Order: sequence, then structure tokens, then C-alpha cells
Amino acid sequence: MPGEGALTAMAIQRLDALVWLTLTGGGFQRRGGGATGYIQTAYLAHLVPQGENVAAGTEEQLTQTTLSAESPVVGIQSATGSVKSSFLWKVSESMNLEALTNQDFLDLVEGLEAEFEGEFVAKQVEADRDKVLLVGVMTQEMTSQQFENGLVELVRLVETAGGQVLQTLRQKRSRPHPQTVVGEGKVQEIALTAQTVSANLVVFDRDLSPAQVRNLETQIGIRVVDRTEVILDIFAQRARSGAGKLQVELAQLQYSLPRLRGRGQAMSRQGGGIGTRGPGETKLETERRAIAKRIARLQQEVNQLQAHRFRLRQQRQHREVPSIAIVGYTNAGKSTLLNVLTNAEVYTADQLFATLDPTTRRLTVPAEIPGGTPLTFVLTDTVGFIHELPPALIDAFRATLEEVTDADALLHLVDLSHPAWQSQIRSVMNILTEMPVTPGPALVAFNKIDAVDGETLAIAREEFPQAVFISAAKALGMETLRHRLAQLVQYAISPR
Ligand code: GTP
Repeated sequence: MPGEGALTAMAIQRLDALVWLTLTGGGFQRRGGGATGYIQTAYLAHLVPQGENVAAGTEEQLTQTTLSAESPVVGIQSATGSVKSSFLWKVSESMNLEALTNQDFLDLVEGLEAEFEGEFVAKQVEADRDKVLLVGVMTQEMTSQQFENGLVELVRLVETAGGQVLQTLRQKRSRPHPQTVVGEGKVQEIALTAQTVSANLVVFDRDLSPAQVRNLETQIGIRVVDRTEVILDIFAQRARSGAGKLQVELAQLQYSLPRLRGRGQAMSRQGGGIGTRGPGETKLETERRAIAKRIARLQQEVNQLQAHRFRLRQQRQHREVPSIAIVGYTNAGKSTLLNVLTNAEVYTADQLFATLDPTTRRLTVPAEIPGGTPLTFVLTDTVGFIHELPPALIDAFRATLEEVTDADALLHLVDLSHPAWQSQIRSVMNILTEMPVTPGPALVAFNKIDAVDGETLAIAREEFPQAVFISAAKALGMETLRHRLAQLVQYAISPR
């Protein structure tokens, strides 16, 4: 019987068929080594379109193969080891050489090709959702909790981008393999699993170099993207204003320029999807030089836009309306809160990055004392932070982020129902301290307290005694929040 290694190689290389010969062993030893002898038995193996498995259902039905009627083909072997869920290939029973030579290979291959093609067309029709195989690489510098949190976030990012995660593969390594991130055996497992679960996209939980993407795509046979590309894709889908689109296109082009070569041939059977959408998609085929030119022009436009924003900010300062920027980890509930506080029509969704462009609303808080003047300020919703925001994105979205440093004060909103709320607070703070201009004072507000247990609440209260506890969705704690925001603004703009 053909060994697992040979069958795996057939699957990964998508060979039409594999003939396996066993020798009698009774022959001579060839000069320089290598056995000779008579062919004892032969086996014929070929891949099975995955749709056929689903349709056939039982092993018994699977015994009917596309080989000619008189051939003694009844055997089946399923993939074993890490991929058990469906049959990838069929192997004939042993046959003699004569029976093998009587096979109509051309007919077999053509028949299979037609089936695979039909399957591919069928898949493309339903493939507006990418079917994703996630790969997580755990290296020395992370705890297993951080690693798992990162994977949970990546699943949400993929879903936000419109993909569906079918399976997650993990590998522990002291450091990433320079060429392929994961080891050779793991690359094979990825390739096989991708075939077994019919994934059309592999997403890695870390950034990949252009060379790593090329190597992985060549060996795995389907498109491979990294976390940055998924985030870029989300931005591309969500950008609504001219400014946002401009910035996304710039970021996408800058990201894809070094990755242009090599994409395409290996992926001839793949359609669009994550990483191919957005303003940058048609540009990917044009020449590098044209893209470089376009990047330069977009950069210029972004700079102009920043100058324009700067003028707008000056106007606002001139009008002396204080401003508070709502910052927070993505999905913390910033848009929901802005809606509740100001009845603004900001798009909210249970997806990451529901907001791309900063949205500014005016909020008036009644005076503290009867007869006093109400306090008016503007609240700005900002793009959600994520941990390890790729540097390329920080650059590309600097105008959006600058909005934060421009504000008089910050409202740092935290999703307390998220298991990693503590590390999320740290990530936001880290990114804020990296900003060129130091932001104003910040008020921490813990959101989603309706979905939090008492113990977590107690921990948060102890660690952040100054914080406000709210539920934007249930409009809990809104009065206290308004009051504390007014205090914050007054403190921020009072001369010191
Ligand atoms: P990005 O734009 O992605 O940065 O997200 P965001 O911070 O603006 O979050 P958004 O307001 O879109 O809310 C994200 C999800 O959290 C939505 O499904 C909200 O319904 C939900 N949410 C917001 N506030 C609360 C709350 O107080 N309790 C609960 N349980 N869910 C909430």
C-alpha cells in the first residue's frame, strides 16, 4: 500500500494520480545501489473531490470509483493523523501490471478534472465569505494566555472582515522559522488541513515578511495573509469618508508593494476575499512603478488633508469649544456610548472597527448649580485600538489618531466584560504614550457592567478607584458619567 507520505505529497502537490509499485525483491542489486526486480503489485491512487465525500456519505458508496468497470478497484484509504474528518484520496486494491497498463489514465484524469472544476465553480458561488484556516504561532516571549487571547481576537478580526474561521492550528516554537514561520511538518499539516476543511485562505496570527508569504503560498497552495492584511481589509470595507478611503488606499498600497511579485500563479484557483478588496485591489496588478507613483500622490493628499484638519482644529480652538476624544480598545462600545450620550447616529455593530472616521458630536451638560451656565463640549469617537497595532497602520492612520492628541481630554472606555480588559488598558495607554503630542487628562470608564460578574467589578474598582462604571447599551451610570465629563473638561481647560 502507498505510504502516508506519498499520499500526502500527492494531495499537497495536487497530482492527478499516483502509481505505487512494489517489487518482488528477488532481482539484482544495481551497480551503485538501488533495487531491481519484478513488479509484484501495483496500486493506483488519486485525489477525491471533497464534494463527492459529502454527497456519498457512506464508505460503501465511496467504493465506486471513476475507474473502468473491470478494474478491481474497491479499496479506500482515508487521511489519518491530524486530518481525520474526510477522505482526501482513494487507493485501489493491489493489481497486477497488466491491469494497471489497461487503465485509461487520460479518461480518469479528465473525469476527475471535470469534477474538481465543477466543485471549484460551486465553491466560488458561495465563497463571498472567506473560509479561513487560522494559524497561531506561540513563541517564547508570550504566555499561553496572551497567545490564546490573541487568537480569539484574530477570530473576531476575521469575522469582522467577513470571513469564517473553520479551524485553528497552533504551533509552539522558540522563535519563528525564518523562511516559513512554522516548521516544515507544520506547513504540510496546514496544507492538508486546508484541503480537508476546504479553506480558501490561511491567516497567520503574526506579521509575515513578503518572502515568508511567498514560501508559504507556494507550499500550501492557497492564499496566505497575516494579521495586518486582515486589519487593512476591515479598514477598506469600513472606510466611508474620502479621508478614510484615502488613508486606507495608501496603507494597502504601501503594504502590498513589496508583496506584489509571486502572487497570482500559485493562486490561480482562488478568487477574491480578504486582502483583495478595497480601493487598492485593482492597483495590485499594475506595475510597481505606477503604484509607487500613486503612493507618493496619495501621501501628498493625506498631508494636505492633515493641513486642512489642522485649520479645522484651529477654528475649533478659536471657538473655544472644549473637546473630549473617546478612546478605547476596539469594540469597547465607543459608538454606542456616543449615541446614548448625544443621540448621534453613529453606526454601531458587534464587529470590530465599526467606526473608522472620527465622528464628532456636541454635548451639553446642565450646570451643577441651579441657574449656572450649562457646559458645552464636543465628543469625538475615534478608531478602535488593537494590541500590537501594526506600525504601518499607525503611520497610515495618523490623522485619525492625531485627533486624539488634539483633544483637551480623553475618555478611555474599557470593555470590562472582555477577559483581557487589563491588558487592553495597557495597550491603549502604550499607544497613547507613543503619540507625538501628549494627550490631556483621561477619565477611565468601564463599560458593559451589565455583562460582568461581581468579582471582576470589585477588582476593577480596587485597581481604578477613580473610574466610572457604566453600561452604554443599558444606559446605566450616564448621569454620573456626564457629571464626571464636565468636571474633566473644566479641569483640562482651566489655566494652571
Ligand atoms: P469600534 O468602532 O470597532 O472601535 O467599536 P466601538 O468601541 O465603537 O463599539 P460599538 O459601540 O460598536 O459596540 C460594540 C458592541 O458592544 C456592540 O455589539 C454593542 O451593542 C456592545 N455594547 C456596547 N455597550 C454595551 C454594554 O453596555 N453592554 C453590553 N452587554 N454590550 C454593549
